[in-house]
Amino acid sequence: MSAVKGLVLSGGKGTRLRPITHTGAKQLVPIANKPVLFYGLEALVEAGVTEIGIVVGDTASEIREAVGDGSRFGARVEYIPQLQPLGLAHAVQIARDYLAGSDFVMYLGDNFIPGGIAGVVEQFRRERPDALILLKQMPHPERFGVAELEGERVVRLTEKPKKPRSDLVLVGVYLFQTGILEAVDAIKPSARGELEITDAIQWEIDHGRRVTPHVVTSRWIDTGKMDDLLECNRVVLEMLPEFRDGKASEDSKLLGKVILEEGSEVIGSTIRGPAIIGAHTKVIDSFVGPFTALYHHVLVEGSEIEHSIVLENTSIRGVSKIEDSLIGRDVVIEKSQTRPRAHKLMLGDHSRVSLS
Ligand code: DAU
Repeated sequence: MSAVKGLVLSGGKGTRLRPITHTGAKQLVPIANKPVLFYGLEALVEAGVTEIGIVVGDTASEIREAVGDGSRFGARVEYIPQLQPLGLAHAVQIARDYLAGSDFVMYLGDNFIPGGIAGVVEQFRRERPDALILLKQMPHPERFGVAELEGERVVRLTEKPKKPRSDLVLVGVYLFQTGILEAVDAIKPSARGELEITDAIQWEIDHGRRVTPHVVTSRWIDTGKMDDLLECNRVVLEMLPEFRDGKASEDSKLLGKVILEEGSEVIGSTIRGPAIIGAHTKVIDSFVGPFTALYHHVLVEGSEIEHSIVLENTSIRGVSKIEDSLIGRDVVIEKSQTRPRAHKLMLGDHSRVSLS
């Protein structure tokens, strides 16, 4: 039997995280200063899946630049261009040559499973069902693909049903034998115009194939929305080991777990962990509160910020106080020096701002 391959989906459009993902790939938004996609690649490698095809769309060059040939992760990565995001089952269709008859794990590049997937890959290798799908009990199942079970079998799957008949949702990790390739060719586009993997798996059920559920008991976070992303950042910051490769001045206070990445500097400031200060980021005369991740080359001066994610090259000066926020790259937020002291904004399309 050939090795189980990985198929990571990183095409598509990140509309729900706009404007952060207007220009950038949503799979590269950092969680505790590491792109969410990297956690997925690490989880695959940890499960012994080292041949990985990444499906890429409009943001292909950014993803290639970040991941490279995969050697950094202990993987061999190849890229599979998808010209349009026509659905998860379409992504499987175009990966046919890459898969070359292997069993595979399909992993949605914007998903995060803190517990990893080693156990479930092992279960798939042992039991070899036609498909094995990861499920999780969730509030608001109507936002996801929903599964109905009878004992140890999946009997029905519905993509984003208006009236869900169970609270078990598909969490974006699927293990398949090659029969799925027949299924993805047999289905028609859904009402939203996509070839749904959910429908392809339903086709397998309808044709008497064995589809096994694996209910995840650890957390699962779909990082597509801001609140979920902040929550995910919180969970990961709690798990990370502390290290201090940056500098803190003597008059600074680092309380609890504070991670200082290489070249970071904390001057005259208080940082209450868990928090991570990215490479070459400076925090001056400021308070950085719990569950905050400042990515690389950020400046925070004379400001207070907590429970937030700030992307690279952004500067925040003289602002009190920012919380529960996701701030993009190359953003400038500063206190106005001239009167009237009004809010002066230059915001991209689809921005969201709450002013006090
Ligand atoms: O997050 C779990 C949910 O993911 C499941 O519960 C649903 O059953 C499943 O259909 C999927 O739903 P979404 O609507 O959230 O999928 P989304 O469009 O966000 O795409 C998921 C990932 O796949 C994302 O990283 C982009 C990528 N993608 C998406 C499409 C439609 C592609 O690479 N190509 C595509 O054509």
